[in-house]
Amino acid sequence: MKWSSAALLLSGLALAHKPPTPKQPNILFVLTDDQDNHMGGVDFMPRLRESIIEKGATYDKHFCTVAICCPSRANLWTGRMAHNNNVTDVAPPYGGYPQVVKLGWNDNYLPLWMQDAGYNTYYVGKLWNYQNVDNYNDPPVRGFNGSEISLDPYTYQYYNSMMVRNGGDPVSYAGQYITDVMTDKALGFLDEALAEERPWMMTVAPVAPHSNGTREIHSGVFWQSQPEYAARHAHMFKDYQIPREASFNAAIDGGVSWIGNLAPLNESVIEYHDEYQRCRLRSLQAVDEMVESLVARLEEAGVMDNTYIFYSTDNGYHISQHRLAPGKECGFDTDIHIPLYVRGPGIPENQTLDAVTSHTDLAPTFLQIAGGATHGLDGKPIPMTVEESYRSKTEHIGVEYWGVNLPEGIHGYRKLPLPDGSAHNINVYHNNTYKGLRLIGDTYSLYYSVWCSNEVELYDLTVDPYQITNLASNRTRFANHTVVGRPLQQVINRLDALMMVVKSCKEESCRQPWEELHPGGFVENLRAALSPAYDGFYAQQPKVAFSSCELGYLVSAEGAMAVDPYEREKKYKLGRRFEYGESLAFFS
Ligand SMILES: *[C@@H]1O[C@H](CO)[C@@H](O)[C@H](O)[C@H]1NC(C)=O
Ligand SMILES: *[C@@H]1O[C@H](CO)[C@@H](O)[C@H](O)[C@H]1NC(C)=O
Ligand SMILES: *[C@@H]1O[C@H](CO)[C@@H](O)[C@H](O)[C@H]1NC(C)=O
Ligand SMILES: *[C@@H]1O[C@H](CO)[C@@H](O)[C@H](O)[C@H]1NC(C)=O
Ligand SMILES: *[C@@H]1O[C@H](CO)[C@@H](O)[C@H](O)[C@H]1NC(C)=O
Ligand SMILES: *[C@@H]1O[C@H](CO)[C@@H](O)[C@H](O)[C@H]1NC(C)=O
Ligand SMILES: *[C@@H]1O[C@H](CO)[C@@H](O)[C@H](O)[C@H]1NC(C)=O
Ligand SMILES: *[C@@H]1O[C@H](CO)[C@@H](O)[C@H](O)[C@H]1NC(C)=O
Repeated sequence: MKWSSAALLLSGLALAHKPPTPKQPNILFVLTDDQDNHMGGVDFMPRLRESIIEKGATYDKHFCTVAICCPSRANLWTGRMAHNNNVTDVAPPYGGYPQVVKLGWNDNYLPLWMQDAGYNTYYVGKLWNYQNVDNYNDPPVRGFNGSEISLDPYTYQYYNSMMVRNGGDPVSYAGQYITDVMTDKALGFLDEALAEERPWMMTVAPVAPHSNGTREIHSGVFWQSQPEYAARHAHMFKDYQIPREASFNAAIDGGVSWIGNLAPLNESVIEYHDEYQRCRLRSLQAVDEMVESLVARLEEAGVMDNTYIFYSTDNGYHISQHRLAPGKECGFDTDIHIPLYVRGPGIPENQTLDAVTSHTDLAPTFLQIAGGATHGLDGKPIPMTVEESYRSKTEHIGVEYWGVNLPEGIHGYRKLPLPDGSAHNINVYHNNTYKGLRLIGDTYSLYYSVWCSNEVELYDLTVDPYQITNLASNRTRFANHTVVGRPLQQVINRLDALMMVVKSCKEESCRQPWEELHPGGFVENLRAALSPAYDGFYAQQPKVAFSSCELGYLVSAEGAMAVDPYEREKKYKLGRRFEYGESLAFFS
């Protein structure tokens, strides 16, 4: 166990104030698919608001680290960043269930760790991708006392889904609305869980508001349309429009890679996108009802004072922003800045917490709640109180992506390349491999990215919240742009060095990346690193760079992997350790 000492101390204090509980708390985790945070999505979910958001905490600065389903779930369930779990795609050879199994994660991940901690575990809905009607039991999913897992190619067919219960035979739900089916199944497992002595963790992962579609396993054809909704919600949001914000249908000044060349959307496409987003909101209504039913069942059972409820999504979504077709897989806030709401014992009610958190932190959070072992994870438990949140020093989110970008909707119809390269590609954007670094401090909010083409992006969200000016696109033109009073190039040097650490970090170096640059804890944030005293040091660091664009994590394509730590501080650190030992002796 090696969380940051502050988090340990604070969680210790929090525990000391709590009366002893008869058993570890239960955990319910509702995980939607592709739910955006930037188009008012949860404002249209009144039951979620009433039963979770207003009774708990909003984590306003929560991010995913890989903006696509299966890799984001791998991040959640392994507690490791994508470069450490290497499940980087939705399908083989770089991702999907076969890669999960091959790399041993089916035998070493959160549900098993929760069982080791004494929990009964349940799962309803979409778990990975590419777990399909052919391979679903080869081997069976491990780690659950009860499971109802969605199977490809039916996962995204809202009225034609197929699920496997507890490793049995697949059952078709043709004609039934899948979110409602999942609600029933979740309520059933909840009854089972509540009847047992042991604490439980249950994840319910509906596919809404993901696009409706199918992946034909054998032909590679992948077709996605607007999500389908329950008939009872068809009348809703008829007048809704996607907010016409600064990035709406706007080109990026200095856009990179394929995004730099997108044509403006015409009126008929915009109309189509508005309707698409209405369908997404309608599809979320059944999730809203699901949340209400689950919370009601917990309240009836009288277990709310010992149950945490988490609500989040795997990744965000864009639709018209930056002229993008419906989809995700980008590093913009639309895609990575996502909802996280938590309700439970000790969690402040109806409050927004400011700490910077990511999906990498959720496995550690669940394990801390359970008192379980920590298994070499890359994150740390999220703050659970206003005080802990206030003291959180984390500023960075490491973002990664490998592969292609897949536009959804009728303008993005396509055939996926098969592993043997046989199918045509229509409208797939290639070379969508990049590293990103989202950094939020007291007075700064930045997104820095290096692409496999070695193009660079930098957005200053304090003045450009919709990310439409790439400051790294022309360092002459933007040379006078400052962050904390320091010029652009100095800022980029720091961000690049931090990204160098974060892109290959492991465990403690993911939690405390500045420590790799400044051993001894002298620099803990961008502000301190921007001191002119370090200008020479940062100018000389190896730079993040790719030698080619690959579809997966091939170390050979990803250039330098480590920074040169600041030597003077390394020596000073040894001296400080010695003094620390002496003062301990003095006190004993
Ligand atoms: C990740 O997995 C792919 C596909 O199995 C493999 O080619 C690659 O070498 C792996 N990367 C690392 C860093 O292990
Ligand atoms: C749940 O699974 C764990 C691990 O296999 C087992 O120890 C526990 O007894 C199971 N709980 C129930 C209620 O069967
Ligand atoms: C949803 O996908 C299924 C399977 O491809 C298809 O039959 C159905 O027509 C789609 N629905 C819509 C609204 O496009
Ligand atoms: C609008 O754009 C779409 C997608 O490029 C195209 O198919 C359509 O023909 C265009 N409509 C008009 C009226 O130009
Ligand atoms: C939650 O906070 C909001 C905004 O501060 C307020 O309008 C609302 O009434 C509060 N709700 C509850 C249940 O306290
Ligand atoms: C940057 O600032 C200097 C000094 O104020 C000024 O001379 C120069 O024109 C500015 N450059 C740009 C690109 O605005
Ligand atoms: C960069 O900006 C400068 C100053 O605005 C301009 O003269 C130059 O043409 C720009 N370079 C490119 C490649 O756009
Ligand atoms: C993708 O990047 C490779 C270099 O790694 C380049 O050869 C290729 O032309 C690029 N493809 C596209 C569509 O830009």
